[in-house]
Amino acid sequence: CGIVGYIGPKAAQNILLEGLRKLEYRGYDSAGLAVHNGEKLDVEKKEGPLASLEEALGSHPLPGQLGIGHTRWATHGKPSDENSHPHVDAKQQFAVVHNGIIENYLELKEELAAKGYTFSSETDTEVIAHLLADLYDGDLVSTVRNAVKRMEGAYALGVIHVQEPDKMVAVRLASPLIVGVGEGENFIASDIPAILDHTRNVYVLEDGEMAVITRDGVELFTTDGEPVQREMLHVKWDAVTAEKGGYEHFMLKEIHEQPKAIRDTLAGRIKEGIVDLSQEISLTAEELNGIDRIHFVACGTAYHAGLIGKAVVERLARIPVEVDVASEYRYRNPIITPSTLVVVVSQSGETADTLAALREAQKAGAKVLGITNVVGSSVAREADEVLMTWAGPEIAVASTKAYTSQLIAIYLFGLYLARIRGTRSEAQLKEATEELLRLPEKVDNALSDADTIKQFAEQIKNHDNLFFIGRGLDHAVVMEGSLKLKEISYIHSEAYAAGELKHGTLALIEEGIPVIALATQQDIFDKMVSNIIEVKARGAHVLGLAQDGDTELTKSVDEVFTIPQTLPLFTPVVAVIPLQLLAYYTSVARGLNVDKPRNLAKSVTVE
Ligand code: G6P
Repeated sequence: CGIVGYIGPKAAQNILLEGLRKLEYRGYDSAGLAVHNGEKLDVEKKEGPLASLEEALGSHPLPGQLGIGHTRWATHGKPSDENSHPHVDAKQQFAVVHNGIIENYLELKEELAAKGYTFSSETDTEVIAHLLADLYDGDLVSTVRNAVKRMEGAYALGVIHVQEPDKMVAVRLASPLIVGVGEGENFIASDIPAILDHTRNVYVLEDGEMAVITRDGVELFTTDGEPVQREMLHVKWDAVTAEKGGYEHFMLKEIHEQPKAIRDTLAGRIKEGIVDLSQEISLTAEELNGIDRIHFVACGTAYHAGLIGKAVVERLARIPVEVDVASEYRYRNPIITPSTLVVVVSQSGETADTLAALREAQKAGAKVLGITNVVGSSVAREADEVLMTWAGPEIAVASTKAYTSQLIAIYLFGLYLARIRGTRSEAQLKEATEELLRLPEKVDNALSDADTIKQFAEQIKNHDNLFFIGRGLDHAVVMEGSLKLKEISYIHSEAYAAGELKHGTLALIEEGIPVIALATQQDIFDKMVSNIIEVKARGAHVLGLAQDGDTELTKSVDEVFTIPQTLPLFTPVVAVIPLQLLAYYTSVARGLNVDKPRNLAKSVTVE
């Protein structure tokens, strides 16, 4: 979900709506505003995209210079007008917007119901509004402080009260929240893009902190009331970076931004032809040499980057690696020792499962390296070591440039480890580093032949099922390709290790079923060709993805798309491009909402 709040001399409504528009990628099944009109709190909220709210406001705008807004991705309670935020108490004294989950809300709800409070929604958030009303002591700040003492779970809150037309209160526990500092006006938001048009100066709240915000001032406290000093962060992001910039969809724009994202992620990390991360990673050579196992932990696309991470680290640095999805990791009692390095990969740096895994690993004594795209995010702040990806803001729900940037960060890390641990010669390291620097151009090249992919998208768009196959690194890449396609085209697909197909799934191959076969790994190329022949023999229609200069694959597939050659370990960065394009064009061909697929959110801050 997304939160925005405003206090200042201007009309709040439009500032809030603009802010929500920038946050729609965080959740978009309903939206709402509460504005203080000088006398009372006016609320408007609507199920559906932000446009529905705007339409409702069109006929009766909410006047006032203090307000809070919310765009929702449902957790407790289905998307509906009633369940939308802001939530208010019975007398409409308090208005609350909330991200996260109040875990003890049922208990609180029962307690409040027993006192005669009635509820008009199914949400945990409404409980907060009634709790505030119940605890109200004439002072907004102390009431909020007392209420949060009763709340368990994760939350970012924005609260206003009818008796305090000059104040807004924000609280954070395990759900991101920032305060934007302007001149004679101030803001709250769950994410930076929401306020970037107004200010670049922000305070990032930490867990257990609250901000008391007036037109002219921002004061930070712990929720126990201790004053907090925080350095102001100056955001360098360009506002237009977060806009579509001429492309039809954010996703296409972001696909095309990959050469730049890769270049930016490499920048400043290669010295004299060799990877040097000593400026960013404070682990000493001794500590890096002492690592005896690595766990990659992440969700979704970032997990697929972790799968590549395993191959990269094992091959380059000869350290055993395990890869887990974060929601499984914490519950399988993993073997973590102080000599384990846990690498969490997260574009947003706010994914609840990933953060929980990070904390679990630290508790067990491991050092955590965070690979994330968001400065000031929870992962960036909590991990012991951080390696940023510099992909810039990613808006489309389906991740593209964040993934390839994560791969680059992983290559950099693998090469750095190999250098420190002496598992690769200087000549090998230099050769690999030179090739890394050529990747932006190779990705650009892979992007240039979108037409072949577009045609294939037309062929698959009416199918209900299809398969992706690959071996080794190609298997990890097709898993990402399959996820992309599922997310935005709603076509069911499976990514299979090609050699495993004959152990069961081959039974599903029938006449005309599309199979996308990736064959970039030379050492297993012949085996891959045999697998392609197996599916061809059962009638599959095969799109083969091979490297430039390949003449073999062409003979055994129906269509072929070639990508520039690179080192085997680096092929995923280039090979994923046609798969991203395939998902994109298939979604477009099916007339779907490419950037905002149903049921999915960009950043999942609940477990
Ligand atoms: C959500 C997004 C995915 C993303 C995953 C992990 O499910 O829809 O695109 O890969 O979260 O997000 P993170 O921000 O941790 O990389």
